[in-house]
Amino acid sequence: MKFDIAVLPGDGIGPEVLEEAVKVLRTVTSKYGHEFSLHHGLIGGVSIDKTGEALTADTLKMCKGCQAVLLGAVGGPKWDDPQAKTRPEDGLLAIRKGLGLFANLRPVKVFPTLINATNLRPEVVDGVDMIVVRELTGGLYFGRPKRRWVTSRGRRAVDTMSYSEQEIERIIRVGFELARSRKKRLISVDKANVLETSRLWRQIAIEMAAEYPDIELEHMLVDSCAMRLIQNPRSLDVLVTENTFGDILTDEASVLSGSMGMLPSASLASVPREGTSIFGLYEPIHGSAPSLTGQNVSNPLATILSAAVMLRYSLNLVEEARAVENAIETALDEGYRTYDIMSEGKIQVGTKEMGDVIAKMVGGS
Ligand code: IPM
Ligand code: MG
Repeated sequence: MKFDIAVLPGDGIGPEVLEEAVKVLRTVTSKYGHEFSLHHGLIGGVSIDKTGEALTADTLKMCKGCQAVLLGAVGGPKWDDPQAKTRPEDGLLAIRKGLGLFANLRPVKVFPTLINATNLRPEVVDGVDMIVVRELTGGLYFGRPKRRWVTSRGRRAVDTMSYSEQEIERIIRVGFELARSRKKRLISVDKANVLETSRLWRQIAIEMAAEYPDIELEHMLVDSCAMRLIQNPRSLDVLVTENTFGDILTDEASVLSGSMGMLPSASLASVPREGTSIFGLYEPIHGSAPSLTGQNVSNPLATILSAAVMLRYSLNLVEEARAVENAIETALDEGYRTYDIMSEGKIQVGTKEMGDVIAKMVGGS
């Protein structure tokens, strides 16, 4: 089958890790007889340098013509000036909004072979397998007013957390549907003891629970969830939460897996259902890691895993997705490690070598 995939490498280590994901996808094409047409585009700092904008209308249009988008990372010190008019991160926000990608799925799975790679006790992280559903196109990130100004008594700034009923309903639905395909438990995370948006969120979650009598719905305050994440992460399965809470909780959750370099993400424009292909953008949850750029040391597994999630959700190539995931598991079992997950007695490899190992295993499996 033929598929069109947009490839947006971005900044920092983005291009390096994405190259390894593309390497693995090429092996998938030759092994399974598909044709992937890759369309390269600019986003983030490199786009600002070339065009003055973090995301151009051309790149957005190109992405709309594809079945899926694979993204590396954006940002770097070069574009970090708080006075700057345009920032690389604006490109990320613009593409999420422009493509209607309201549902961000961040699975947090601990590979058994990596339970010693984390700072937490192995018995705490062993068996962790959860998914955080983060609302991605609303809340503080996009609410208006959002501005900075000077008053007679000094400078002032405002961000706005705002949510409509429709925005809340569609993201909680993603949570319920995912819970249905997993352990039939959904935890809705909010700050309903303080925030009005959270009180609306909680009320809508309660109303929707009537449509899902087979799912057990629990509410958790975000601060308490932050604690539970490291105290008893195995007790969590599907979490659904608003944009900023999800941003913070998923960085925390990444510690469970041993490294930010292990976690993929999918940003979707509709509710995922087995057996259907939906449009989505796939990226590692880590950033552009400027200090590691060009050294062939960063971990490409989060990006390769993101490509696997793309195969599953956007291209409906389930067997191929599983082959990539299995290859990663085998490579870890055989002791291959990038520096971030390295431990004694294992084989330390660079970014490219890790990509080679996975590609070879996908090709041979
Ligand atoms: C993420 C990142 C982004 C976010 C940044 C880079 C804008 O932290 O995808 O989690 O805050 O959403
Ligand atoms: Mg983040």
